[in-house]
Order: sequence, then C-alpha cells, then structure tokens
Amino acid sequence: MATSMMSAPAHGGRVLDAAAYFGIPEEEWLDLSTGISPFSYPVPPLPVTAWQCLPDHQYRALLCVAYDYYGSQSLLAAPGSQFFIETLPLLRPTSKVAILSPTYQEYAYQWSRHGHHVLELTQEAIELDLEQYDVLVVVRPNNPTAEQIDLTQLRDWHQRLAKRGGWLIVDEAFIEPLLADGEPSLITPEPLDGLIVLRSVGKFFGLAGIRLGFIWSTSELLAQIEAKQSLWYLSGPTVWAGIHALQDRCWQADTCQKIKTASTRLQSLLQNKGYNVHNGGLYCYIPYQQARTVYEYLAQRGILVRLFEQPAALRIGLPAQEADWQRLDTALSALSIPNVASVK
Ligand SMILES: Cc1ncc(COP(=O)(O)O)c(C=O)c1O
Repeated sequence: MATSMMSAPAHGGRVLDAAAYFGIPEEEWLDLSTGISPFSYPVPPLPVTAWQCLPDHQYRALLCVAYDYYGSQSLLAAPGSQFFIETLPLLRPTSKVAILSPTYQEYAYQWSRHGHHVLELTQEAIELDLEQYDVLVVVRPNNPTAEQIDLTQLRDWHQRLAKRGGWLIVDEAFIEPLLADGEPSLITPEPLDGLIVLRSVGKFFGLAGIRLGFIWSTSELLAQIEAKQSLWYLSGPTVWAGIHALQDRCWQADTCQKIKTASTRLQSLLQNKGYNVHNGGLYCYIPYQQARTVYEYLAQRGILVRLFEQPAALRIGLPAQEADWQRLDTALSALSIPNVASVK
C-alpha cells in the first residue's frame, strides 16, 4: 500500500483521553495500552548534581555503560529512539522506502512527511521487489503484530540493499525478551555499511519517561545524526537513570524472568477465552474482526487496551499487580462474543 499524506499517528497510553471519552476518572483506569514494561527499573535517588549541573560531562560515562550493554562502541544516544526515527529521513535524498507492515506508524509518517516514497508491504512483497527500494524498515519483534523476521532473511535483505548504497533499518525497541530466549540482536561489535539498529531504554526498563534510546551504525552516519542533536540533548536525570539501569545485570536478569512469566500468563489467559494470540514478550497481539467491540467493552470497565482498525486487532500490555490480572480476567470472562475463536 502506498502512503501519501498521513496525519500524525495516535499512540497508546492516552488515559486522559479515554477518561474523558468514557467518563471514568483517570485514577480508576488499568492502562494496558502500551508495550512498556510494568516492572520499571527502580532508579536510585538522584544526587543534587543531576539537577544542578549541565549533563554533558556525564555523557561519556553513559556511553561506556551502553557499549557494554549493547556489545559495540558504534553507538549514539538520543532522547528516545523516536529521535532517530524522525532524523533518519533527513539524511537521504528522496528515496523509495519499504516498511514491513502493519507496524509502528511513525515510520510511514516520518518518511512520507519528508517527501520520500513510502510503501507499506508484506514480507512476501518485500522479498519479491526489494531491488526497487533504497530503504527497508523492519521492527523486530514487530509492534504490534509480534512477528519476528528470521535473522537469515534480514541479513540477506541487508546485503542486497547495502550493495546499492541502501539501508536496512531494524528497530529492536522491544527485543530484550527475545534476547533472553537466546535470539541474537543484529548489533555486532563492528558496524556494517547500510545496517542501522535502533534500541530503546523506554520499553524493557519501563523508563519511557526518561526519554533515552540508542542507534548503532557506522561512524559516518553517527556523525551526521550527532550534527542534528541539540547541545545538551540528554538531561542529568536521564543520564543518571540510564547509567544505573544499563549496568544493573542482576535486575535485568530478574526482570527478564518476570516478563517471561507475565507474558506466558497473559497469552494463556487470552487463549483460554478463545482468542488467537501472538506473544510479543512485552505485549500480546490479537488479530480479531470484532476488536472494537472488545476494546469498548473493556474501556467501559476502565481497562484500556490498544485498538487497531486496519487490520482489526488489539494489543494488550502486561498487567503487574495480582488485582490487575483478576480485573482483566473477570472482565473478559463476562464478555460473550459469538465465534470468538473462529473469527480471526
Ligand atoms: C517500535 C517502536 N520503536 C520506537 C519507539 C519509540 O520509543 P522511544 O522513543 O521511547 O525509545 C516506539 C514507541 O512506542 C515503538 O513502538
């Protein structure tokens, strides 16, 4: 599907809008509408210097910890991986951009608003027509569908694009649960021409509010991106939180286990109600024609999930507290939709 003029995409986590629309006070909502981990990193108390001093002298320390965590020095930090999604389209002449879809809508929006020719394609269409494109975007695991493109396929696509000066952009914002299962990241110690990987600290660490993400690429491309950053682009509290979170291996291992247990539980809960569930680690995806009915039914009970219209589907994040699990289970048990298992 060709993408022409798009309006800015909507995102999950809009509890205030839901509160106003459904007439339920903000504090009564259970927000399962994002893929942000509910097990957020407990950031240690901030020293006064994090508030008071200009933060750039700490950037080096953050990068050193990030080198270790991501396994390469070819990295640059920014206020969220979103910064790179918005910046990469500025660094190419008008290009033909294929996006493995459906996916995070910011890609189609940002590339098309900068005048590139964007096509939202299936894996089969990409495989068939890759030679026609300059840039390919793949989110791994995909948000929202949880689809995981095979590494061999990605390496083949990368080689075919790089030969012609093209880019493969792989967004690994939600990859940590996959890594814990032994699946490697595409990040290698040395960068590769034409391969760009994005990572987010917001999702797995449950720290979306600090706004921190990384890009892995060649030094030439990193320099071009750095030139687009403002002078003190990360705040002192962000750097402090990032340094602690990225180096706390015990917390990371423990949290991977918690996420695995929670996502298996969520998958079973939903499958037991008859839904066709795709497990993305930090969220479950349910392609379902009557998604809107389920969305509205849950919202009327103060449970916010993410609704997708094209194709019709729901994305449900991980509950954290036992009371939240019970609330979701009870609400879904009371919902009777005919043919729930057969309408997929
Ligand atoms: C696939 C994907 N990539 C990147 C982002 C941006 O995340 P952040 O800027 O918090 O790192 C999001 C946000 O939801 C996302 O879903």
